[in-house]
Parts: sequence; structure tokens; C-alpha cells
Amino acid sequence: MAHYQRIGNVPPKRHTQHRTPAGALYYEELMGEEGFSSDSSLLYHRGLPSAISDARSWDLGESLVTTPNHPLLPRHLRLHDLFVGDAWQGVDAVTGRRLVLGNGDVRISYVVADTPSPFYRNAMGDECVFVESGSARVETVFGRFDVVSGDYLVIPRATTHRWIPNGAEPLRAYCIEANSHIAPPKRYLSKYGQLLEHAPYCERDLRGPQGPLLAEDAGILPDEAAEVYIKHRGNGPSGITGTIYTHPHNPLDVVGWDGCLYPYAFNVSDFEPITGRVHQPPPVHQVFEGHNFVICNFVPRKVDYHPLSIPVPYYHSNVDSDEIMFYVAGDYEARRGSGIGVGSVSVHPGGHVHGPQPGAYENSVGAEYFDELAVMVDTFRPLELGEAGRAVDDGKYAWSWIGGKNQEQALDGAG
Ligand SMILES: [Fe+2]
Repeated sequence: MAHYQRIGNVPPKRHTQHRTPAGALYYEELMGEEGFSSDSSLLYHRGLPSAISDARSWDLGESLVTTPNHPLLPRHLRLHDLFVGDAWQGVDAVTGRRLVLGNGDVRISYVVADTPSPFYRNAMGDECVFVESGSARVETVFGRFDVVSGDYLVIPRATTHRWIPNGAEPLRAYCIEANSHIAPPKRYLSKYGQLLEHAPYCERDLRGPQGPLLAEDAGILPDEAAEVYIKHRGNGPSGITGTIYTHPHNPLDVVGWDGCLYPYAFNVSDFEPITGRVHQPPPVHQVFEGHNFVICNFVPRKVDYHPLSIPVPYYHSNVDSDEIMFYVAGDYEARRGSGIGVGSVSVHPGGHVHGPQPGAYENSVGAEYFDELAVMVDTFRPLELGEAGRAVDDGKYAWSWIGGKNQEQALDGAG
């Protein structure tokens, strides 16, 4: 983000002496992207941020291994069939994530959690975590967030943080992990990074961290050793591995920071939809982008108002993309009759023409408003299925466009 923020206690001049009330020096850390050539922040620590006393393996096992989508099929994955019953009890929002889909650019995981996570940083890339339901306090070295249903939390690569679910309802989170950075679409930014007038949201809609947040404010002893789980590149079946560092002091020791690199939250209800007389293509729904993928959201909105408009999408062959839609709330008009509902994920791979289910195309004529909420990830390289995606594939969505007897026969044939 090129939106400058300053929180807590920072010296008037960068790279100069900054001292505690007792006269000791704070330790300055520059956290920056693309070498020293892009956004960065300066953080002031009470302890040496580089001090570690132990490092051991965080065994991710086979959890991030993927299987190609072959034979090539559109698929319906029922995420609410993961963590059924009380299987979310004792699960945390970092180590409990289950991989739904992934490729070399992005991984989509799902988790239902009720337990505080360990401290964590993702050294593979930025994360964009969408809160489907429930709420949580997220404690980061930049400060604290209170996230609720509908929030995206964008967390820059290697930001140390932890998730603490609140209350009786478990946290349901849809986790989009990039191998790159995640940012607002470039076309919505001025050359200096301000969100432009035609963007569907602006800086006022983004929530920065509340802080500073020190260990004692989080109910932790600052001088006690603390573990941080780090996800990073490595050998093994998925090319991703983990390491657990032990720090001699708690990582929540930043008394102040300033700069343009920090985590931020955005609630999907603050996205102002762009509508038109005829059907608007998915880029108007875009909210963020990473390398080789985009994130879009479909929010409740007035729909096409040309007198002869067809409000649901035309059939489309988006030849360079796999389209992954997560249905969060409302009714999804175009998918009526397909079995898709709240908690579903549809996978529409490149190479397959897709569009509304039988009848939906005709039935949408005259509609004025769609009450739907969905989050879409479009990737520019094919996605493969993770273990969670394979576990909750309904096995019959591919045949949902043929209708009637043909569909029944296909389902019989597919078992
Ligand atoms: Fe589509």
C-alpha cells in the first residue's frame, strides 16, 4: 500500500538514535518489498528482531500436495462438509488450514477454528484471508485488528502475527495465499498509489492496524521465549516447507512504526458495485490482484437495466483462466438447480465453456436485483486439487447443464 501510516513512537528522523525512557536504543528494522525498491516500513523494536535461540522443522507433511484436475471437469466443492460436527474444536486458523486448490502462484485453503494460533509468518507471499463468519482478534507486530464476517485481511509477506477467534461461534476463514504480493488493481491507482475516483473503494474503506501492540498489552510476558511458525520454500512434495523459530523474547515488541507496508482490512460491504445497462464483465467486480491471479467479489446489487437485458452472465470461455467462486451468502441466480449454495465452491477451468444452469438464462429476464455475495479467484495458470478439495467434490456438477433425463443418465454413469 502506498498509503502512509504512522503509529506509536518513532524518531523525528529515520535511521537516527531512538531511545527508551531509560536511555537504551530501540532497534530499527526496515521491512521492504522488491529489495529496497518498493513499499516499506520502519519498525522500532525493544529487542533484537534477528535474535533466535532455536530452529526446528515444521512438518507440513503431504498437506500441500495437489492433484491435477484430470479428466478436466467443472467441479462443485462443498466446503461446509469440511470440519463437520465438532471437528473444528481445538483447530487454529494457521496450522488447521486445509488445502482446497493450488498452483505455483496461489493456494486456497479453508479452516474452521476456535483456538488461538501460534505466531506465524508466511515467507512465501502475501495472504488475503476472507472471514466467512465468526470473528477474531488478529495480533500483528504492526498492531491489532478485530475482524468480522465479510472482512478481507491482507497480510504482507513475512508479517509476524497470530489469530485468536472470539466468542461461541467458530471462525470460518477462506485463506488465499499468494507466492507474490497482493494489492488493489493497478488500474484503480494513480501513478503515486492513490485510489482513483472510478475505483469501487477508497482509502477511507481500508482499516489499518490499531497499535502499537506490545506483548504485555496482549497478556503475554515480554521477556519469555516465543515460537514463530514460518512457511517458506523448500524441498518436499509441494515445494513448501516450514520452520519453527524460538525467539528469546516475544515478537510483539514494536513501540512504533511508519511507512507504506502494513496489513490492512477491508469489508466486502464497503465495495461499491459498478453496474450497467447490459451485463458487466467480472473485472468490474475485482477487488485485489496478485501475480497471475485476481480476486473479485460479487455483492448485492442492482442488475442490468437495458429493456432487453439478460441479467445473468452470457456463456463464456475464459480461455486463459480457471475461475473459482466461493458462495458466501444470498441466492446465486445463475447456479440455480445445480446444487450450489452457501458454502459451495465452483471450479470452472480454462478449456471448459461455462455459464448459467438450464433455465436460469431465461428466468433471469426482468430481474432487477441480485442478492448474492461471492468471492472469486481467477488464476492464469491451471489450479490443482488439494486434499480438502478432493474430499468434498460432489462428483456430479459437471453434468448439471444437460438437464432432465440426460442428467439422470450421466449421474447413474458417474456413480
Ligand atoms: Fe465465469
